Amino acid sequence: MPPKSKSAARNRAQIQIFRRLSGLRGWTERARRKGETLALVPTMGALHDGHLTLVRQARRRCDRVVVSIFVNPTQFAPNEDFGSYPRTFEKDVAALKQLGVDAVWAPGAATMYPPGFSTRIAPEGPATAGLEDKYRPHFFGGVCTVVAKLLLQVRPDIATFGEKDYQQLKVVTGMARDLDIPVKIVGIPTVREKDGLAMSSRNAYLSPDERASAPTLYRVLKDCAARLKAGAPLAATLSEGEEQIEAAGFSVDYLEARHAQTLAKIDSVGDGPARLLVAARIGRTRLIDNIAV
Ligand code: PAJ
Repeated sequence: MPPKSKSAARNRAQIQIFRRLSGLRGWTERARRKGETLALVPTMGALHDGHLTLVRQARRRCDRVVVSIFVNPTQFAPNEDFGSYPRTFEKDVAALKQLGVDAVWAPGAATMYPPGFSTRIAPEGPATAGLEDKYRPHFFGGVCTVVAKLLLQVRPDIATFGEKDYQQLKVVTGMARDLDIPVKIVGIPTVREKDGLAMSSRNAYLSPDERASAPTLYRVLKDCAARLKAGAPLAATLSEGEEQIEAAGFSVDYLEARHAQTLAKIDSVGDGPARLLVAARIGRTRLIDNIAV
């Protein structure tokens, strides 16, 4: 084992867990007064290597890293999995400590949404592209509201978001720009299992058979992207891709090619840069994925 650096050891010893805004604010203000740069990694916990990669990237870019863990009720519809969403707080904190994270911001729901809370951000543009928003109409309003709060609470220099949730990345980037929130949103490429399945907290819901079928999503995305790059027509390629995904036991919500920046519809990948995005349900689990063309 290589010797551990002093600063990593110090950071591991000093992870701070904040549940109240006053504690968090005092700590971030002290860091800023010392001239330290701050990164925020917003999460809902149940951390896997995708989240931890966001944390590693944040550490490379800033002096101090804050990870927020908050399962945000306002981005779940009543019929969704808010109640059963995996919660593994102690394990998450242990993993973050290992990575030398400085602080965990873990507010309760009453701290984020106290009685009388009555403001909600209503994003448009990429948030109304007809992808996730079509199937989860609550979702981006809830995400933007909580992410705006997290950014204003922590006031980081940068915040890292995964390309795995590609529409979310574009929506949050647009919101920070539109509302003049002084933060740089940094997108991080999707981290995958060895067989290609994008890591997700929701993969834990998959039965062994469903887990065996799940890599089909990425395989079909790659195959469609290769064919489109070679000049295959868009509509036929995507409808064949959809058939392959359904044949693996999924019910497809969408498989679409969109403009990679605006998420606007495109007629051919020549109108790009293009991004292929998919959402599909298997059993009780809904999975999403996307790749560049
Ligand atoms: P959550 O699903 O916990 O994801 C937190 C962050 O991790 C998001 O930016 C997401 O895109 C990223 N992420 C998840 N899986 C990844 C993977 N396989 N590779 C790379 N990055 C990955 O997304 C949310 O939480 C919430 O909507 C949140 C932004 C925290 C607002 O509540």
